[in-house]
Amino acid sequence: MSKQLERIKELVELRAKARLGGGEKAIEKQHERGKYTARERIAMLLDEGSFEEMDMFKQHRCTNFGMEKKQYLGDGVVTGSGTIDGRLVYIFAQDFTVNGGSLSETMAEKICKAMDQAMKMGVPCIGINDSGGARIQEGINALGGYANIFQRNIEASGVIPQISGIFGPCAGGAVYSPALTDFILMMENTSYMFLTGPKVVKTVTGEDVSQEELGGASVHASKSGVCHFTAKTEEEAMEMLRTLIGYIPQNNMEEAPRVECTDPINRMEDALNEIIPDNPNQAYDMYQVIGAIVDNGEFLEVQPDFARNIIVGFARFNGQSVGIVANQPSCYAGVLDCNASRKGARFVRFCDAFNIPLVTLVDVPGFLPGTGQEYNAVISHGAKLLYAYGEATVPKVTVTLRKSYGGSHIVMSCKQLRGDLNYAWPSAEIAVMGASGAVAVLYAKGAKEAEDPKAYLAEKEAEYDKLFTNPYQAAKYGYIDDVIEPRNTRFRVIRALAQLQTKKMTNPVKKHGNIPL
Ligand code: HXC
Repeated sequence: MSKQLERIKELVELRAKARLGGGEKAIEKQHERGKYTARERIAMLLDEGSFEEMDMFKQHRCTNFGMEKKQYLGDGVVTGSGTIDGRLVYIFAQDFTVNGGSLSETMAEKICKAMDQAMKMGVPCIGINDSGGARIQEGINALGGYANIFQRNIEASGVIPQISGIFGPCAGGAVYSPALTDFILMMENTSYMFLTGPKVVKTVTGEDVSQEELGGASVHASKSGVCHFTAKTEEEAMEMLRTLIGYIPQNNMEEAPRVECTDPINRMEDALNEIIPDNPNQAYDMYQVIGAIVDNGEFLEVQPDFARNIIVGFARFNGQSVGIVANQPSCYAGVLDCNASRKGARFVRFCDAFNIPLVTLVDVPGFLPGTGQEYNAVISHGAKLLYAYGEATVPKVTVTLRKSYGGSHIVMSCKQLRGDLNYAWPSAEIAVMGASGAVAVLYAKGAKEAEDPKAYLAEKEAEYDKLFTNPYQAAKYGYIDDVIEPRNTRFRVIRALAQLQTKKMTNPVKKHGNIPL
């Protein structure tokens, strides 16, 4: 065999060794845990055969605690590039089979290189987390590695989409890289995220709590709002990530990919003409409205189990990606509260950062009153949503279906917050407050003096209703651009978006604003 062929043979052997990560036994153990390996995950996520690995031969330099004997080619992370539906992405996947995926200085360098490449190329960066945290044997160098990653997360924020998948442990300071990214997907039952684990919690607070109760997918999907998507299987997770990438652009200078629309753009939905109940206190399901108006009824919901009184997610109109924000009357009457406000605000800001038009569907009775909300800073959280809408320069189309009262009317993308096209259904009630509340304030004295206070207030309510709880007061002043038939909503939104295609708007030059965080 020639020297060259010998060298090639050696390369092939080294590659095979690197591809085994922590070795066959460790891979077996990973499978027994119900988890795939880093390379298997990458293969599932990317277009077949598109993965180009980087730094396969990189090794750690640590010699503390016998680490020189624990060497694996590529160390505990697999990095590189590939495509999703033909579009380039960079990826890093922590390899739990190598020292529990713990983060060494070398691993951090690999991850940073992938992030730098993603920034250079202007394409999304996807991180798959499955790690025991900072590699204890490396001490401060591992911490420095994390800090280098965080700094890149921050600089890339709003420039390229950053997406995190949590496919195993993600604990301690390691949670902050995902937390700095745009979207977090967590695996049900096999992943968890927390700053301090159950043992530390027990020591410090005496609280007995399991890993799942402390930071499992269901906790972060429904209680904390830290995570945006959950999946039951890793296959399902990869499909969700591919779908998400399909809705968003490669970077902040591009637009989301337009797909061919197979759903008639002038499709009438007669059912919408009858969806609003006669009784204003009766709920209906906003998902039915969304499903009826978007292309093929397809909707990728973000944070479906958190603050369910507001719905946010991606859909398409005539093949164009949009972000939908909608109040949900069937959950707490669609009221805005602390969680709904911050959920909405973050989504609006993502869409604005990445040139995705916003379609807002309004049916909101107001902000939730009470000490629970005030003590939790509903003022600041509500202001976040207000700020996000007011700051957004992407096309903004608003449709008011029913209630739009008081502060919540303003917050939900009203005309004065630079709403581009604001429509209302004939059932819209756009006013400072509902009839009974208003009459109670205005006619309290009159009611006291009236012979029949009940009849008196009912009469005043009817008067107020006639005058204010309709869309025409707002339309009269141009705050509503048109009152539309509900069944035409799809067509009107599509035509509005077409009209706004060339919209150009910039905010005053500043270092950055000071959103009420
Ligand atoms: C070095 C680690 C490690 C770590 C796991 N391993 N975590 N090595 N540093 N942080 C190694 C184990 O020693 C073991 O090596 C292999 O990975 C697999 O781990 P197991 O414990 O056998 O697996 P499992 O039973 O599934 O438990 C997984 C685990 C547990 C829950 C993640 O390993 C664990 O609790 N690890 C420590 C978590 C932690 O406290 N990390 C530091 C957090 S502080 P062998 O050779 O036996 O196979 C932090 C600060 C970051 O991260 C700050 C950033 C700002």
